[in-house]
Amino acid sequence: MGKNIQNIYVSGDENRLKQVLINLLINGIEAVLEGGHIQIDIEQNENEWVEISISDDGYGIPPHVKSKIFNPFFSTKAGKKNAGLGLSICQHIIESHHGIITCLSDGGTTMGIRLPISGN
Ligand SMILES: Nc1ncnc2c1ncn2[C@@H]1O[C@H](COP(=O)(O)OP(=O)(O)O)[C@@H](O)[C@H]1O
Ligand SMILES: [Mg+2]
Repeated sequence: MGKNIQNIYVSGDENRLKQVLINLLINGIEAVLEGGHIQIDIEQNENEWVEISISDDGYGIPPHVKSKIFNPFFSTKAGKKNAGLGLSICQHIIESHHGIITCLSDGGTTMGIRLPISGN
């Protein structure tokens, strides 16, 4: 294991980028029922960008909710402390790294973060 795995580098704040991944994983975990799945994919485009996708087969996001998920303090989770800040912070962090964050929901949910590969 590991022999064919190529390193891909992005430049930025390691802790803030970690925070993004943790937030997206926690949202995925919160969306799946027992026995659900979370998948992480990494796709690279030449030497331009890398996209990390975090997918879950949880309850999904209906269109009227999807348009609000990046708004600060928007949450559909009742009784949660500090609710609704996760994705707005993720979007801020990714955009300040010259990247984009996207959401696809068709059954489950796929959150994508695309970041420029370092050296460009
Ligand atoms: N993986 C997901 N599956 C379903 N809904 C999600 C997912 N990720 C985010 N959401 C929706 O987006 C909202 C905002 O997410 P977030 O900013 O992380 O706040 P919080 O998780 O505290 O509610 C959630 O309340 C939920 O409705
Ligand atoms: Mg969250």
